[in-house]
Formats: sequence, C-alpha cells, structure tokens
Amino acid sequence: MKILVIGKGGREHALVHAFSRSKRVKQIFAAPGNPGIAQLATCVDIADDNVSALLSFAKQEGIDLTVVGGEGPLAAGIVDAFQASGLTIFGPTQAAAQVETSKEFAKKIMVKYGIPTAAYQSFTNYEEAVGYVEKQGVPIVIKEDGLKAGKGVTVAHSIQEAIAALQTAFSQGDNRVVIEEFLSGFEFSLICFVCDDIVIPMEIAQDHKCAYDDDQGPNTGGMGVYSPVHTITETIKTEAMERVMKPMARAMVKEGYPFCGFLYGGLILTEHGVKTIEFNARFGDPEAEVILPRLKTDLCDVIENLLHHQKTELEWDSDTVLGVVMASQGYPSSYQSGALIEGYEQLQDSLYHMGTKLQDDKLFTAGGRVLLVLGKAPSLQAAYQQAYDNVAKIKCDALFYRHDIGKKDR
Ligand code: AMP
Ligand code: GLY
Repeated sequence: MKILVIGKGGREHALVHAFSRSKRVKQIFAAPGNPGIAQLATCVDIADDNVSALLSFAKQEGIDLTVVGGEGPLAAGIVDAFQASGLTIFGPTQAAAQVETSKEFAKKIMVKYGIPTAAYQSFTNYEEAVGYVEKQGVPIVIKEDGLKAGKGVTVAHSIQEAIAALQTAFSQGDNRVVIEEFLSGFEFSLICFVCDDIVIPMEIAQDHKCAYDDDQGPNTGGMGVYSPVHTITETIKTEAMERVMKPMARAMVKEGYPFCGFLYGGLILTEHGVKTIEFNARFGDPEAEVILPRLKTDLCDVIENLLHHQKTELEWDSDTVLGVVMASQGYPSSYQSGALIEGYEQLQDSLYHMGTKLQDDKLFTAGGRVLLVLGKAPSLQAAYQQAYDNVAKIKCDALFYRHDIGKKDR
C-alpha cells in the first residue's frame, strides 16, 4: 500500500513510524513532513491545509490510504474533498470535525445525550460574560470558541484573571466564549478508532498541559505524556467508554454527522465519576507519540478493517512509554526559532520531531514544541529515568522542558 500522512509534527512522525512497521506498506509519503519523518518517508512540500494540492498529489501518486494528523486540514474539509474524488482517507468530515472546531457544538450534543461534562454557558457579549463570572465566582474556566491549539483556555483562580481572559478573548477573533464550571480530578486522554458506531479504544495516556513543573504556568499543546496510566483502571476505562465515547459516536450518527477517524476524549476522573473536558477530532499530540509505539497490531489493518466496518482486536506492548517535550523558551507565548540542536543523532527511535528544520545537515529549532524525547521500559519509574537520560543528551540552550512528567501516577 501507498500511504500519505498529512502534517509535520511529532504526532505525524509517530504515525509514519507506526506505518513503517507495517508489512503491508510499500511506500509512505508525508506532506509536508519534517526532518525526522524524512528518515522513514518521502516528504512532499505541500502545506497540510492546501487541500487541492494534496488531492492532486494523492491522485497522481495513486495513494491507497491518506491519514490526517491535525485539525487544520479537517476543518478545511480535506476529508470531504478526498471522498468526493473517490479516494480513501481516514478522518472526519468538516461537519463531524465540529466536535473539536466548535466548543459549543460539542457541548450541545453532550447536554442533549446526557454525556457527562462541566456545566457551561456561552457568551457573545463581554459585559454579560463578566457579570456571569462575578456571579459564579472562581475557580472558573474561560474558553475561546474555535481552534486554539490548546491555548485558548484559561483556568482562572481569581476574578481579575477571569476578566483579563475575557478581555483577551473579546478583543480578537469571533468573539464567542464558553464559560465552564471548574472540574477537579485526574485528567487523562482516551483516544479511539471510530467509524460510525464502531468505537475501538486505545490505551490510556496522560498529557501534561501546563507549561511548567507542578502544573504551573499557562496551558500549552502538551509538555509531556506517558502510557499506560495506572490510576485509570479497567473499570474506569469501561465507564469512560460506556458513558462518554460510545454515546458520543452514536450521538454523532443520530445528529447526522457520523464520525470516522481518531476520536479523542479529554476526560477527567472527578469524585462524581468520569466527565468530559473536550473532544478532539484527531489523534492527540503528544499522546500519539507514546500510544503508537505500544501498538503491536498493524495500524494499516486496524484502519482498513474499520473503513469496512470491521473491528480489530488491538494488541499492546505492556511497557510504559514516557515522552518529554522540549520546547522553545517563551512557548506558548512568543519564542524564537533557528537555534542549533546537537546530540540528537544518538537517540534514533527515542525521538520524535515536533518543530525542527534541517539546513546544511544541521538541525535547528523551528516551532514552539521542538522535540519529544522518549523512554520505554517495563515500569513508569524506569521509563521516566530513561526519558530524562535521553533529554540530557540533547544540547540546545534555547529549549526548556518539565521535570515531573508522570510523577502524579507513581
Ligand atoms: P481544553 O483545550 O478544553 O482541553 O482545555 C485545556 C486544559 O484546560 C485541559 O486539559 C484542562 O487541564 C483545563 N480545563 C479545561 N476545562 C476545564 C474544566 N472545566 N475544569 C478544569 N480544568 C479544565
Ligand atoms: N495533547 C492535547 C491535544 O492533542 O489536544
């Protein structure tokens, strides 16, 4: 089979890596890919949201299966366009991707179908939003509607902080804000292969969203991750499947937006059971980088069977995989790119490229999140040790990272 993976980050690197282990894959292309991906696939210089150019390429090259990494191309309708041309693609349509692209769309479905989530109200007027926050008190959560790469969310612990977030939200973009009840508990990610009402769960991962140690600092796209997660037992996972993931897939069919692709449940174990923080219409990044290396089943088989409405029994490596994100100083706010990275060559399979650039055979930073460094071992403790030993091999002054990935679960 000829595979095309769309995107350029660590998630796409992990997808390409998983496809490269498939016996059925003859050739892998990535658009636009990155220097890490280039060691496993042919990178094609087409931006991930240039739908018409991607479509022409896939037709011309005779691609058998296209897999979409990020939400951008999904929101741009890449799946609709490929399907209209008779090409096989794994991902939700533009309409189904609204589960991620519109917080309000997702909330409305959750409320209608009784899927547990935080109480909320949405606002298009600044004064009304401020009035609501003052009435509800803190902590409270302010979310800008639309795609924000994990950065449009403020968990406000003071009224001033909430008002500042509202000012920012209403001073830009489409001026729609969702204000949510604050949920407290243990957060985890449950990503499923979904096609209509078939929902196949992957192993649980835990992402670390805050920029700094001890969950301090602003929200990011994710600063570190590990899988499996001991706190989330099989019983809790079953609750998450039966109360959140399966009902959501069924609800999407009923509402006329059948979902096909990776459905990501951002969940939290509260004292009142599992609740939903958000859905994403794609694989998580960095979750993909620790879940896929544990998948022993051929990824091609899983997706192909699913597209034919057949389930595949998934087999998992029992080892823990733990990933530490090395990000540019300043991320998630402004940061500089172009710093030299050394020492990465020794890491081979323990490294996924998130935002790098190769120039004259040298590797440079080229993004907020730059590298994801892995450890893989029979225990969480050993995986942690190995990941941080690997981090120490990377030489680049322009990068920072968290030191406490996986600490809460030990
Ligand atoms: P989201 O983009 O919706 O995943 O939000 C980013 C992060 O903000 C989540 O991973 C949580 O850590 C936090 N968060 C979002 N919504 C809530 C909530 N209702 N209660 C507590 N924390 C939340
Ligand atoms: N790791 C969070 C996300 O992919 O949205």
